[in-house]
Amino acid sequence: MTQDLNGAGEHYAATGVVERLRAALGPEDRPLTTRELGAMDQFHTRGHAATAELAELAAIGPADRVLDLGCGIGGPARLIAETRGCRVVGVDLSEGFVEAARYLSSRTGQQERVEFHGGSALALDFVDASFDVVLLQHVAMNIADRSRLYREIRRVLAPGGRFASYDVVRGDGEPRYPAPWARAAGDSFLLDAQATREAVEAAGLRVRVWRDDTVAARSWAAQLKAAASTSRPTTPGLGVVMGPDFAVLAGNHARNLLEGRVGVLMAVFEAV
Ligand SMILES: C[S@@+](CC[C@H](N)C(=O)[O-])C[C@H]1O[C@@H](n2cnc3c(N)ncnc32)[C@H](O)[C@@H]1O
Repeated sequence: MTQDLNGAGEHYAATGVVERLRAALGPEDRPLTTRELGAMDQFHTRGHAATAELAELAAIGPADRVLDLGCGIGGPARLIAETRGCRVVGVDLSEGFVEAARYLSSRTGQQERVEFHGGSALALDFVDASFDVVLLQHVAMNIADRSRLYREIRRVLAPGGRFASYDVVRGDGEPRYPAPWARAAGDSFLLDAQATREAVEAAGLRVRVWRDDTVAARSWAAQLKAAASTSRPTTPGLGVVMGPDFAVLAGNHARNLLEGRVGVLMAVFEAV
């Protein structure tokens, strides 16, 4: 593994994801909706709602060329293509996730609107100014070299383009691990909100929208905890993708949020 992957490659190196999805989702000829996939394909705090709010804040429209960096199994790309009427390209380090993203998009009938490629956010295979919007949701905490990450995002954005960022940020005290993005502290590269802003601005992007999403994230975490103690999930969740111990990782994320060890930042920047 090359150094810039920082352990993220291993953490997300899921094998057999498509087979597990097939088993969980039932007959191949049954079409799926983006809504019913939401519990398993939106791999970030507050799921569908957060993606929809970020897309609205970034004012994504039908003509926008959108890149979803660290797209996971493609849930945000599918939701944005459907609700904003645009085409979305997703890139992810995990080949298993890219394969799963393509599979799910064929099940939702969206192959014409979304496409997925393997690759690193630190060395993108696109020419300068290829996109009007770049999304980065819950990926930056896996990347140590933020300066390179944000410079690469700026490079592929057209002048005036928007960078829509939604990430976990450092709070007070050491986060508990394993967390959904890293099994151990050595694979986690959290910055606090201010340091994130400085790193993004240094790459030639200026703040357009700045929203501390921590309070909303905490109430989501509290609901999650309450639901986990009283009921069994009725729809397949991220455990299908990340493995049976995902509940432990999600539980630690909820505790980290409720204890103030991490926060969540939603922001939109403009390429200057
Ligand atoms: C927590 S998941 C979020 C997935 C997706 N953005 C979502 O919100 O549903 C983090 C994703 O970032 C990807 N990732 C981590 N480091 C990356 C890198 N250097 N380049 C591209 N993808 C990366 C992982 O493979 C994983 O799919």
